[in-house]
Amino acid sequence: MTGAGRGLGRAAAEHLLATHPETHLLVAARGPGAERLARDLAATTGNPNVSAVSCDLASTADIRAAAHEVRRRVDAGEVPPLSGFLGNAGLQMTSRTQATPDGCEMTFAVNVLANYYVLRLLWDLFTAPARITLVTSDTHFGDLRHNLGMIPPPRWENPAQLAEPREGTRARSASEGRTAYSTSKLAVLYLVHALARRLPEGVDVYGFNPGYVPGTGLTRDAGPIVRALSRTLLHTLRATPLALSPTAAGILLADTACGARPGETGAYVDRRRTAPSAPESYDRPREEQLWSTLADLCALPTEPEPTEQPGNDPG
Ligand SMILES: NC(=O)c1ccc[n+]([C@@H]2O[C@H](COP(=O)([O-])OP(=O)(O)OC[C@H]3O[C@@H](n4cnc5c(N)ncnc54)[C@H](OP(=O)(O)O)[C@@H]3O)[C@@H](O)[C@H]2O)c1
Repeated sequence: MTGAGRGLGRAAAEHLLATHPETHLLVAARGPGAERLARDLAATTGNPNVSAVSCDLASTADIRAAAHEVRRRVDAGEVPPLSGFLGNAGLQMTSRTQATPDGCEMTFAVNVLANYYVLRLLWDLFTAPARITLVTSDTHFGDLRHNLGMIPPPRWENPAQLAEPREGTRARSASEGRTAYSTSKLAVLYLVHALARRLPEGVDVYGFNPGYVPGTGLTRDAGPIVRALSRTLLHTLRATPLALSPTAAGILLADTACGARPGETGAYVDRRRTAPSAPESYDRPREEQLWSTLADLCALPTEPEPTEQPGNDPG
């Protein structure tokens, strides 16, 4: 699992450990804090069945090293064969200018590329039945009902362009950073559909939307006004159906990752149930173009080729 250190991911990790003591949870977190996170999770839940690997998802070198270490542990029997992956880590920037050490735009790198690269590097280690859950967002719809007027709609472009950090006044605006965010979450759905056509039988993949969850660290890059709003006024939305607390969202995420099978592979899980994602999110040419661009960016072959699996059908 990525993104287990805070926010709704922390709540999901605690719920998983509390309710699935038989499942070993391997958390990937950046820096030396990864081991401490595993110890904290064990202490909080009373379940020692958790370990950690250090990984900054903004660095492809770090992802390679972490995947290598996971493979070593599985081969050595230190952790069981992989029965799932929960890609929860994500960020929202207030610009589109920041680059990773590899020169990729930060939002695209962490929210999209990292999930792809982890999965490609660990591909053969998943043993059916297995479940992959990638966290997306209903901001990918781009309408007021889903983004509450806070996040601009996605703006799809050639994925090679989406991966490029930008320069100039417009790129430095919060609006561009948030457009990169909603676009990255649309890309996560494209990735889910492309994966559903390729993963072996019995290895399912889902896109999970927690809805609006004020009170996490997601807006930490924002200015003081947005952060203050997120801490105060927007918290009151939790008393309405418009928002969930990090704990409530984390429980739903944990259930999607480890509870009853949510539905057909490739489905969008909107909090508690599967539902169609935005019409724009079902677009096979874009999905396949994204898949091959991600392969290029990671210097990997585009194989495996797609098979006619579900996952590209709004029904
Ligand atoms: N909050 C919402 O309203 C909302 C709505 C829809 C979807 N989501 C999605 O839910 C997921 C969790 O977000 P959240 O709201 O809980 O935000 P959060 O509190 O900021 O948690 C984000 C998690 O991602 C990790 N992360 C970010 N960049 C990383 C990197 N380079 N390497 C490794 N880990 C990294 C963070 O680790 P550190 O602690 O090291 O920073 C943290 O554990 C995200 O994918 C987000 O897009 C959130």
